[in-house]
Amino acid sequence: MPGAIYAEGLVKTFGDVRALDGVDLDVPEGTVLGLLGPNGAGKTTTVRCLTTLLRPDGGKAVVAGLDVVRHPDAVRRSIGLSGQFAAVDEYLTGRENLQMVGQLYQMRAKAAKERAAELLDRFHLTDAADRPAKTYSGGMRRRLDLAAALVVSPPVMFMDEPTTGLDPRNRQQLWDVIKQLVSGGTTLLLTTQYLEEADHLAHEIAVVDHGRVIAKGTSDQLKARTGGERVEVVVHRPEHLRAAAEVLRGFGKGDTAVEEHMRKLTVPVTGGAKLLAEIIRELDTRGIEMDDIGLRRPTLDDVFLSLTGHAAEAGDEEGEGRTGGRGSRRRKETVQ
Ligand SMILES: Nc1ncnc2c1ncn2[C@@H]1O[C@H](COP(=O)(O)OP(=O)(O)O)[C@@H](O)[C@H]1O
Ligand SMILES: [Mg+2]
Repeated sequence: MPGAIYAEGLVKTFGDVRALDGVDLDVPEGTVLGLLGPNGAGKTTTVRCLTTLLRPDGGKAVVAGLDVVRHPDAVRRSIGLSGQFAAVDEYLTGRENLQMVGQLYQMRAKAAKERAAELLDRFHLTDAADRPAKTYSGGMRRRLDLAAALVVSPPVMFMDEPTTGLDPRNRQQLWDVIKQLVSGGTTLLLTTQYLEEADHLAHEIAVVDHGRVIAKGTSDQLKARTGGERVEVVVHRPEHLRAAAEVLRGFGKGDTAVEEHMRKLTVPVTGGAKLLAEIIRELDTRGIEMDDIGLRRPTLDDVFLSLTGHAAEAGDEEGEGRTGGRGSRRRKETVQ
């Protein structure tokens, strides 16, 4: 039996752009699927097709047991959607926004009021409840948007990049809310550019690139598939990066990733500690000074890099309270 969210060969084109090129998904009831992919991969288009906002050009999609093309209204009644761009009304207060959603769903005024108060509390918005939403911070808006999607407790939820642009504290808060939500049995499809988020929240991860699912599995399965371990080297001097990359190429089982301004190189290997010792000897022989070297298990980041040839996380987002340090991970290049 297909899951609560099911897609088979989903195709969507915009002029020359084949945004979805045959997407297959199957999300069992009560689980979380993380749709992971870089900008332009087709995540939002997938969500828009599954939530009836866009009509697919081909393929089939069934949500909560209903065909999205044949029964869009019924699908809409069974789902909640939290968009990539928060859809709150700026001029209404937080409370009014939530009550309005309840009334749109034909709740009685009293019930809508109670539900709004309950959600405001759950999302730590009670203090700001009676201020217009335009005075909210980015994190508060996201929480309000998510609360709005939950007014009618839908059995199937979609969240399109729910935490993009949030600072770590707000992200953590939102993760807690999402965890609570799915522990109540909601089926969730979540898109994200953050590997950590998928790792944290998703039972299963589908990696999308160029409108296709290019890999699927649990975080551990995907990591195991990437195979082996990684040797990470931080060279002391930037001018040694090239020579160090050459050494690693001789020992590695794949492309070497270079993060220039961290002076760091990463290469997949098999051979463990013995190989590590050999690499150290060779670097030493060539007079390449190291600040750090070590062996580690692959991360989801490595999985993504080896699958798509580029790092997952975009570096150009406008976030509130962005921490400068993380940008460094985002500019990876591979050396052939
Ligand atoms: N309404 C649209 N008109 C034209 N092209 C679009 C439209 N929506 C998305 N696209 C294109 O489809 C591709 C997938 O976009 P999208 O689904 O938004 O990716 P993601 O959400 O993963 O960043 C991109 O190349 C994007 O430019
Ligand atoms: Mg998107």
